[in-house]
Amino acid sequence: MKQFNGNVKKYTFSSFFVKIALFFLFLGLAYRLFSSSLVQFSPVVVSDDDKINLPPPPEISDDGFVNLHNYTSQNEECNLFIGDWVPDPNGPVYTNTTCYTIEAPQNCMKNGRPDSDYAYWRWKPRECTLPKIDPKKFLNLMRDKSLAFIGDSIMRNHIQSLLCILSQVEQAVDVYHDKQYKNRRWSFPSYHFTVSVVWAPFLTKASTFEDDNGVSTDLIQLHLDELDTAWTKQYKNFDYVIIAGGKWFLKSAIYYENNKIVGCHNCHKKNITQIGFKYAYQKALNSTLKFITDSKHKPYIFFRTTTPDHFENGEWNTGGYCNRTRPFKDGEVELIDIDEMMRKVELEEFENTKKIGSEKGLSLKLFDTTFLSLLRPDGHPGVYRQFHPYEGKDKHNAKIQNDCLHWCLPGPIDSWNDIMMEMLFRA
Ligand SMILES: *[C@@H]1O[C@H](CO)[C@@H](O)[C@H](O)[C@H]1NC(C)=O
Ligand SMILES: *[C@@H]1O[C@H](CO)[C@@H](O)[C@H](O)[C@H]1NC(C)=O
Ligand SMILES: *[C@@H]1O[C@H](CO)[C@@H](O)[C@H](O)[C@H]1NC(C)=O
Ligand SMILES: *[C@@H]1O[C@H](CO)[C@@H](O)[C@H](O)[C@H]1NC(C)=O
Ligand SMILES: *[C@@H]1O[C@H](CO)[C@@H](O)[C@H](O)[C@H]1NC(C)=O
Repeated sequence: MKQFNGNVKKYTFSSFFVKIALFFLFLGLAYRLFSSSLVQFSPVVVSDDDKINLPPPPEISDDGFVNLHNYTSQNEECNLFIGDWVPDPNGPVYTNTTCYTIEAPQNCMKNGRPDSDYAYWRWKPRECTLPKIDPKKFLNLMRDKSLAFIGDSIMRNHIQSLLCILSQVEQAVDVYHDKQYKNRRWSFPSYHFTVSVVWAPFLTKASTFEDDNGVSTDLIQLHLDELDTAWTKQYKNFDYVIIAGGKWFLKSAIYYENNKIVGCHNCHKKNITQIGFKYAYQKALNSTLKFITDSKHKPYIFFRTTTPDHFENGEWNTGGYCNRTRPFKDGEVELIDIDEMMRKVELEEFENTKKIGSEKGLSLKLFDTTFLSLLRPDGHPGVYRQFHPYEGKDKHNAKIQNDCLHWCLPGPIDSWNDIMMEMLFRA
């Protein structure tokens, strides 16, 4: 498969580490907000307080461009991930009134977002057309099958979109959820089709230390060579899997291999070496993909790349916001350092696995949504993660938390399902 080669210019930030510190903070908060009262949030550990200051606004430079033109077709198959957002007068296949299961923080329509243009774009690959997912056809394909989404809150965002799309044909029945609604399973009874979301933000085994308010009392302990059994113990039940790492790796943590400390990220302990999150991310993906290639069970797997955020003029806690109302065009935006780094690790691990996996009959596909997501600064809830955020407040001075990472529903993430369906039908 062709990929976009990471030849992407960067936003300029004064300090990479400031960005990291802020980012993991945000993620903590975002997840906590996202889950509202349902979930107690895990650790937010900040070690670099003194270094945190306002980063300069990300610059959308004139000359910077995401270079997609260096692609040469290696085969005649169209690359679904290279394309543009084009106006879609038909709009979304569901709304807040036809889908009942949109979680509050993503229900931008209900929350009073004044503009709706963001829901009227569709993803158009350069070399072919991408039909909208046909829920009936999809459900028929999935008859008697089981599909699982494994990862963090972006997976929950994605599965919600799928449930909304499919609910136009049949309502999903909630068949299982844990106490905190982190792990859930639905069924479409007429199709005997099961969809699960499995909470495994690190994919590998992690111990987190938090009190009832979600305040962390100690660093995360992350075992890079042991997998999170939340997903591995169910793996054999799944026919289709979508799996991804992600931004939880930016959190401060102590890393273990073979039950021994091998280093840490942001831990500030004198006798532990700072080795950075990139090392951990690479190892964790390696362990994950090794499990997948070694397993006798061979589901069809989508391996998703990193999801960029769109905070501008600050971060989540320093007044960063995302109030654009139109997509970027190719060339108007640049991937930030962290996303570029994560994506590079993802592509390397994917390529390595593909080599090994093809001999073992593995169906592993890269689900490379980084670039198409990068072009959608307009698709996040922003302040509309809250119900009517400005009510009773002075619109110009109110300080309201923005979510510029997750996606409004309906919204750009719906196209991920169009792509998923297209890939399945081509397979
Ligand atoms: C990619 O394409 C651009 C413009 O067409 C060209 O300037 C650049 O050298 C190319 N880069 C590579 C790595 O081929
Ligand atoms: C749906 O969104 C509209 C605004 O677009 C709002 O007026 C309405 O109350 C919402 N309905 C539900 C059921 O969320
Ligand atoms: C680091 O020091 C602490 C406290 O002195 C000790 O408990 C811990 O085992 C040490 N860790 C390593 C990796 O040596
Ligand atoms: C976005 O918010 C900023 C800061 O509040 C404001 O200056 C700008 O005009 C807003 N842009 C849009 C498109 O609403
Ligand atoms: C994982 O790491 C091992 C040892 O470094 C290497 O041989 C293997 O190719 C890697 N696998 C993947 C999927 O990257």
